[in-house]
Amino acid sequence: MTEPTEPAGSVPRMGPAAVRDLTDRAGRGAGVDPVLSGPLLVTDRAGLGAARADMTGRVAVVMTMGALHEGHRSLIRLAAAQAEHVVVTVFVNPLQFGPGEDQDAYPRNLERDLAVCAEEGVDVVFAPTARVVYPHDEPQVRVQAGDVGSRWEGDARPGHFDGVLTVVLLLLNLVRPDVAVFGRKDRQQLALVQHMVRDLAVGVQVVPGDTVREADGLARSSRNAYLGEDDRAHATALPRAGRSALAAAAAGSGARDVVSAALHELAAPGVDVDYCVLVDPVELREVTGEHTGPAVLLLAARVGRTRLIDNVDVHLGGPEGSGGIGSGSGSLA
Ligand code: PAJ
Repeated sequence: MTEPTEPAGSVPRMGPAAVRDLTDRAGRGAGVDPVLSGPLLVTDRAGLGAARADMTGRVAVVMTMGALHEGHRSLIRLAAAQAEHVVVTVFVNPLQFGPGEDQDAYPRNLERDLAVCAEEGVDVVFAPTARVVYPHDEPQVRVQAGDVGSRWEGDARPGHFDGVLTVVLLLLNLVRPDVAVFGRKDRQQLALVQHMVRDLAVGVQVVPGDTVREADGLARSSRNAYLGEDDRAHATALPRAGRSALAAAAAGSGARDVVSAALHELAAPGVDVDYCVLVDPVELREVTGEHTGPAVLLLAARVGRTRLIDNVDVHLGGPEGSGGIGSGSGSLA
């Protein structure tokens, strides 16, 4: 785990706007409009506890690693529709990065994130340092993601989901929300959070949000910023693969042909496929050729030096065979 770069409780990387915002909110009380004044930024546990104690009614959390984009915005809107108060956490969690992964390069811009949260009417942004989240250094006791966490992304990134679930549970304990919104974009992560909440009786309602995409279908991701011009063009193979899989399922193809249709699109220059599988939506086990009903196509590929993941819901066999990935903002078209 890397050491925090800022002392606990301080306000990292703040520009003038955020400073003004904090000053505005210093004596905040009744009547402060969060849309106009921006979210309350808290960076330590005491600050979060005080902010939480001020909230009446339902609280929804959106956990993020920052570099907020349209996908995060849509989750924030979904959260706002579920609760009176929205808390956004911004924390690049060292526990979920393996050696040689992009923890240090991961884009960080708290001032921009605060501006996004202000536009979306977020009440509180919790942006702690690693020292605040893990005051006793790396936690001895962790959540084990188990079987579902060992497949696909878990296989490619050993320990990743243990790190994700540990921080998710920890942040749930700190924020104590009624609702937690997670994106379908990270389908295995969503499934694992749902498993954890069920298996460990965590008292929170998990609400999934649809994947938001660029005009050409590429799923929004903070990691898209790593893509150079050529890689960005090559990356469209992923949404093309999703579209082909949807079309094949709608035409009545079985699991094998749906996967073949996707792989055909992924066999493109600059794209190095890691996995492309059809799985059941709960346990994420690969489905057999005879499978009918809902399934999820999970994709991971390296484009240049950037690893991208995507997924689409399909329906195999039967007239509902069109499948889909949810609302218009998630359209692959
Ligand atoms: P991050 O990658 O910042 O994603 C935060 C949330 O936004 C996740 O629930 C993710 O699924 C969702 N999201 C990302 N891209 C999206 C898109 N294009 N459309 C809709 N939702 C999208 O996922 C993490 O951070 C971390 O693992 C975290 C859960 C915060 C734990 O550290």
